[in-house]
Amino acid sequence: MDGKISSSIMCSSFRKLEEELRLLEELRIEYIHVDIMDGHFVPNFTLGPDFVRAVRSMTSLPMDIHLMVENPESWIGPFKPREGDIVTIHQEATVHLQRALSMIRDTGARAGVALNPATPLCTIEHVLDDVDLVLIMTVNPGYAGQKLVPATLKKITETCVLARNSGRNAEIEVDGNVSFENAEKMRRAGADIFVAGTSSLYHRELGIGEAAARLRKAISVPKEIHC
Ligand code: DX5
Ligand code: ZN
Repeated sequence: MDGKISSSIMCSSFRKLEEELRLLEELRIEYIHVDIMDGHFVPNFTLGPDFVRAVRSMTSLPMDIHLMVENPESWIGPFKPREGDIVTIHQEATVHLQRALSMIRDTGARAGVALNPATPLCTIEHVLDDVDLVLIMTVNPGYAGQKLVPATLKKITETCVLARNSGRNAEIEVDGNVSFENAEKMRRAGADIFVAGTSSLYHRELGIGEAAARLRKAISVPKEIHC
């Protein structure tokens, strides 16, 4: 299956939000990636349920809600997840990961688990039955505009192998410095969904249309691993 794009809405121009959302629809962007940061789990504070409600009133594109928050169990409900959405929580953020993941599935949304660059893959081995998607953080979460942590490329492939060996067809999403160049490497390594922020769709020197075309091309290369 072709790679999918999840547009990082915190990087968009809020003054022109409705116009930009229409453009994302025309460009057939697959998801709206919404970064939720609580100032505790990550040292930054961003968007919340009211913002998601406002975005839903302007677009029918599915939401890809990335919860970078402590106690994620309390924050699943307020976003009113829908069928077709993705809700991702961090492995590092809860000691009751399996329960939190099943709470996401109970809403009808797809359940994602995210791993920071330093978190070993084996920490999600025993919850794969409850996971539809693994989000590999390719930078430390918290800010846009950071540099790729190179060791995470190998982790993408290792995630593919783990999912395949466990008989699960979980999708693999990548988030952080997904530039045109890095996106191609991430695709070859096995990634399926690409979070597009300041490194691609919201690149300072390109318009969204041109950037989307370049990103599509980068993620259309074949995976070098079958998973
Ligand atoms: C943090 C964010 C960032 C950002 C991605 O979780 O998701 O990773 O929006 O875009 P870049 O890294 O290209 O600015
Ligand atoms: Zn994110």
